[in-house]
Amino acid sequence: PAPGWELAADVCVVGSGIAGLCVALHARAAGLSVAVVTKVRVDAGSTRWAQGGIAAVLDPADSPEAHARDTEVAGVGLCEPAAVDALVHEGPDRLRQLMDWGAAFDRDASGRLLLTREGGHSANRIVHAGGDATGSEVQRALQDAVRADPGVTLVEHAMVLDLLTDAGGRAAGVTLHVLGEGSTDGVGAVRARAVVLATGGMGQVYAATTNPSVSTGDGVALGLRAGAVATDLEFVQFHPTSLYLGPGARGQQPLVSEALRGEGAVLRDGAGERFMVGVHPLAELAPRDVVAKAITGVQARDGVPHVWLDARSVPDVARRFPTITASCSAAGIDPATDLIPVTPAAHYASGGLVTDLTGRTTVPGLYACGEVACTGVHGANRLASNSLLEGLVFAARIGAELATRLPGWTEARNPEAVPSGLLDPAGRRQVSDTMSARVGALRSGAGLAGATERLAALAAGLGGVRPNVDSWEATDLLTVASAVTAAASAREETRGCHWREDHPDTEEAWRVHLDIRLDPRGHL
Ligand code: SIN
Repeated sequence: PAPGWELAADVCVVGSGIAGLCVALHARAAGLSVAVVTKVRVDAGSTRWAQGGIAAVLDPADSPEAHARDTEVAGVGLCEPAAVDALVHEGPDRLRQLMDWGAAFDRDASGRLLLTREGGHSANRIVHAGGDATGSEVQRALQDAVRADPGVTLVEHAMVLDLLTDAGGRAAGVTLHVLGEGSTDGVGAVRARAVVLATGGMGQVYAATTNPSVSTGDGVALGLRAGAVATDLEFVQFHPTSLYLGPGARGQQPLVSEALRGEGAVLRDGAGERFMVGVHPLAELAPRDVVAKAITGVQARDGVPHVWLDARSVPDVARRFPTITASCSAAGIDPATDLIPVTPAAHYASGGLVTDLTGRTTVPGLYACGEVACTGVHGANRLASNSLLEGLVFAARIGAELATRLPGWTEARNPEAVPSGLLDPAGRRQVSDTMSARVGALRSGAGLAGATERLAALAAGLGGVRPNVDSWEATDLLTVASAVTAAASAREETRGCHWREDHPDTEEAWRVHLDIRLDPRGHL
């Protein structure tokens, strides 16, 4: 359909979490006009839900080299050293800049930032806010800064559909469904000299996830449709400890931060025994793939749907962890006196659209930042609290790139209507059930083959569905589910958060990235 409603800005940022809002602020500092478009409300993305904090080397006894080492150990041979180097060396300054923009982190009585520890870290280097409400404070500060700048146009309730390109194939804007705007079917467009995808993750591709409802992989799906290369998609991280709410729980599940284990909480099986001791020298503070695998193993061994987190020894737990205490309390649990039932849930896409160190994807003029991107910092398994940090660091790098390398305006061609069919929203549940049953924390060749078949059948049935946010979201979920499944099927080894029961070893020959792209007909 021809776009109706239109807006023009030098830079179009899609998404409004830490990555998108920081890109917007950096682009404004370079004097560029910015449109931030976001699917629901400005604060609906994952950033607001982050609990543990932001990892950065601030303690003189710590070092960027140690942070890099921890990041690379967690990433099991697939981190890109130059990207990790940028992350750990530039992180502290970017964090200070975030504080200049108004974010307030927890401090001790003498005003020093309080630093905690999470899984896989060899030092206390995680800053936090409001105890376990770090993301909410970060989101508040960035929103206030962006809203105070008249050079940023913020458009809420605008779901991105496809990339607009000029005659040379360069990004020239995006098409959008804008609630209450534009032509009769609500399709509009933002014309821009560069497009930055900061759409977050894809956790909703699974039946149970710590991600909010907006995390439907829209950016990866758009990028793939536009011809961009994605990589490392098989490395979906399962957070070891989401609050177990019962057998039918679907969608977003409450997170129980690793920081609780950083402050002394331990995992116990149904008999009350600690099971992480002896599994890894860091026990409960092992990298999260190790902890998630151990929990999954205990659940399978004992035929139970959850294990227990014992936080009774954590001092003043309600004050230090108010968000977790509130979630537990809503389920009738008091962490000060009760054990907390926990189970792994889909949490983070370590892979995404391939970018270079300045955030450029393989499509000219199209950038990606934050969870939607694969900068190379996470490898096969992201280290805890490196994700907000990645958004901060690479947003600044994209800002610097936009300040110096933005071309003039070019004419956008109307995109072809891709995909040619949309998925009926009723099919969405089949996608997430298939992914949870067969492409979850533990995978096998047979299960992956079944998932491939099921997803292909859904793709074959795409057709005359009314285009709206629900059908586009369902279609994006199917696209990313199929891509994740293809990558997971191809990788015949176990590495990081990709765990194959039929290929249990990590193989040197597989120390490679698996690139995924769609052919011109939109097929994998
Ligand atoms: C947590 O607080 O456990 C989550 C932190 C993260 O995903 O980095």
